[in-house]
Amino acid sequence: DGWSIEWLEEVDSTNEHLKRGSYQHGHVVVADRQTHGRGRRGAVWHSEPGGGLAFSVMLRPSEPRGLWPRLALAAGLAVAEGLGRLGIEAGVKWPNDVWIGDKKVAGILVEAVPEGAIVGIGLNVGTREFPEDISNTATSLWLADRVDRTREEVLEILLPPLAAWSARIGRDFGELLGSLRERCVLTGRAVTLDTAAGSESGVVRGIGDHGELLLESSDGIRPILQADQVRIT
Ligand code: BTN
Repeated sequence: DGWSIEWLEEVDSTNEHLKRGSYQHGHVVVADRQTHGRGRRGAVWHSEPGGGLAFSVMLRPSEPRGLWPRLALAAGLAVAEGLGRLGIEAGVKWPNDVWIGDKKVAGILVEAVPEGAIVGIGLNVGTREFPEDISNTATSLWLADRVDRTREEVLEILLPPLAAWSARIGRDFGELLGSLRERCVLTGRAVTLDTAAGSESGVVRGIGDHGELLLESSDGIRPILQADQVRIT
C-alpha cells in the first residue's frame, strides 16, 4: 500500500540514513541494529539486537511545513492504535511517547529536512529486561502480554494507522485530535514540565485545538506548545 521497505542489518541511525539520500514519500528504513540511535533532546536511544523495532519513514506531506509538528502527534497515536490492534491497550503521553500503563514502550523523533519530514519510531518489542536505570519507566510488548512477536509483524500493524493519521494533519486534524484526546494518558494528572521558560507544575486538562497541552495552575489554564520533558508528579 505505497510503502517501500528497506531492511538494514546495521546503521548509525535510521533517521540519519534517510537524511543521506533523496527518498520518496513512503520510504521506510528498518534496522536490526542502530549504532547511534537518537532520542529527543539529544538523548541516546538504545535498542539491543532482537529487542527493539527501530524504523524511520520519509513523508512528504502536502500540507504546509508549519503543520508538520503535528506528525509527531499522528505518529504517537498511530503506534498506540496499532498496539490496540495487537490486543495491547496503549496510551499517548503528549507530545509523542507511547505508554503501556505508566511505562514508556515507544518513542518518536520527527525531523524536518528540505525534502520532507522524517518520522523515526523506536518500539520495545521483545525486550525481557531493561537496564536498571530505566527498568521502572520502560516496558516492552513482551513484558505487557508475554507474546512473542516478530518485528516484521509489528511493523505491518503499525504502518496502516501511520498512513491514516499522518494524512490528517490538515483539514482533518479535528478527527486526529478526537482520537488523541481519548488516548491521552496525562489528562487529569498533576505534572511538572520543563519548557524553554523554565519548569511549571499544574494539572493537565487535556489537549487544545492546535494539539497543545492545556495546563491548569493557580493562574488558570495555559496552553503549552512545547516541552522538553513532562513528568507525572
Ligand atoms: C525519544 O523517545 O526520545 C525518541 C526515540 C526515537 C528513537 C527512534 S529509533 C528509529 C529512529 N532512529 C533514531 O536514531 N531515532 C529514532
